Amino acid sequence: MKIQSFLLIALCSLAALTASAQTRNDLSIPHLEKHGMATQLIVDGKPFLARAAELNNSSASSLEYMKPLWPKLVAAHLNTVLATVSWELIEPEQGKFDFRLVDGLLKEARANDLHLVILWFASWKNGKSNYQPLWVKTNQEKFPLACSEDGKSMPIMTTLSDANRDADAHAFAALMRHLREVDGKKHTVLMIQVENEVGLLGDTRDYSPVANQAFAGPVPKELMDYLVAHKDTLIPELRDVWATNGFKTSGTWTEVFGPGKPAAMAIPVRTLSPPLTEQEHETGWRNLHWPVDEIFMAWNYARYVGQVAAAGKAEYNLPMFVNAWLQQRDHAWPGTYPSGGPVPQVHDLWRAGAPAIDILAPDLYVPEFEELCGRFTRSGNPLFIPESRAGAQGVANAIWAFGTHDAIGFSPFGIDRFAGSDLELIHAYDVISQIAPLILANQGKGTMTAMLLDNGGASQTVKLGNYNLEARFSARSFGGISNTPPERVAGLFISTGQDDYVIIGRGMNVYFTAATNPSDSVGLAMVEEGVYAGGKWIPGRRLNGDETPEWKALRFRSDTYSIQHVKLYRYH
Ligand code: DGJ
Repeated sequence: MKIQSFLLIALCSLAALTASAQTRNDLSIPHLEKHGMATQLIVDGKPFLARAAELNNSSASSLEYMKPLWPKLVAAHLNTVLATVSWELIEPEQGKFDFRLVDGLLKEARANDLHLVILWFASWKNGKSNYQPLWVKTNQEKFPLACSEDGKSMPIMTTLSDANRDADAHAFAALMRHLREVDGKKHTVLMIQVENEVGLLGDTRDYSPVANQAFAGPVPKELMDYLVAHKDTLIPELRDVWATNGFKTSGTWTEVFGPGKPAAMAIPVRTLSPPLTEQEHETGWRNLHWPVDEIFMAWNYARYVGQVAAAGKAEYNLPMFVNAWLQQRDHAWPGTYPSGGPVPQVHDLWRAGAPAIDILAPDLYVPEFEELCGRFTRSGNPLFIPESRAGAQGVANAIWAFGTHDAIGFSPFGIDRFAGSDLELIHAYDVISQIAPLILANQGKGTMTAMLLDNGGASQTVKLGNYNLEARFSARSFGGISNTPPERVAGLFISTGQDDYVIIGRGMNVYFTAATNPSDSVGLAMVEEGVYAGGKWIPGRRLNGDETPEWKALRFRSDTYSIQHVKLYRYH
């Protein structure tokens, strides 16, 4: 090599190194920040609430396909779109990158005043490997696959291959470098999801020769050190497994965590007996079953994905998350859901193995919405929901997650199908967009809460500030968007002063009693409905009489969400 060329390469590498080092601590790019008890996504110096939705998997692979969709996304009051970028499309030939699609997406998102969260579909998507380029897919000597117990290859890249990991990390780093170059100042892209719903689907663990060898060996020291250092604060499901096996601080995987799936046993799809009775299933389906297999896989997925994420962050330090395909009542055994993915019972493995991952996120389609938000926010994990349902139920859940768990964002899946037609989503996102500044200002301060009410379900009471707030479902319609009572509604309550509340509600009456000086009676001093515009309250009707039942409750229309501002007073 000529000395001039060498110098040029050295100078370019130095420039890239300096640029990437700058983004590492650059607070002007989107980043996460603690705010009291909450973690907020900060964009251009301000906290950001993502009213998001995820596109179908293949939509963003065609700019032409996307064209008619953009205006519908805007009309649905979204501020963020989750869109796939796939490895096979950006690196069709090894080492040759093509970012035209990425640039097209950025251009359209900007033209529509939308942000993007990019989903990096690479080594795995829903437990399988389908998005790696052909030069990876067809060269299994170099890029090996995982095996099931019978020794057969599965269409899944193994986590236990440096070649797999490095090829993925190399492509991801190139993507992040490109994003820094084209978006490092504009901040259209807010966060990155690394891979999609990882974990081994079809068996409890990888049985490839290299995996078997690692499984027979010792638990890595980094993992043991983490467990010892966090012994008192480990997720209880994992701690119980470690305790049952005597809190050993070294040994093989089975010595430390107990036995895995018995040889040649078929994994039950529905969790019936054997191996569990109906009753054991009912009380125990959320546990770690054959724990060592799932723990081993979680560690190896976390190590791999964590190193891919770290390679990307070294280029452009955006917040990064992984999403979980959840364990479910009827798919409770690892392998029927991806074994090793970031489900709550193995969060510690992910924290230990993938420190570059900022958020462990649930794809939350299951009915146990509140329970899972609780399990995903243990140990201070911030809540971001990248996939869920839309409709009345979905938006109620979204409002509840914002009010109860300071969620960073909510994103129903498959927005292509319902962008123009889901009035529930459109109206709820409109109301949330109005009140977002107030929600963000109250995150992490203990001045905001929420309740979920089901049609026919019990009323609920919470204490917030100086009052107890009781919400009762009420399907009374005021005419309007829909006369069918929703199955589920949410109320979000913000204490804005000693005796003041701002409330988003729907299909409910809200009653107040005194929490301080409880012998006081509480009256409504003033109730207004209204809207927020540019962060300012614009009052509409002054509510009284029939609109405030018995002159002591707020009544929220059942056809859509609305905002009321109430001032209370006390009498003796
Ligand atoms: C979960 C996956 O993460 C998505 O990519 C998509 O396949 C949905 N399931 C389909 O419901």
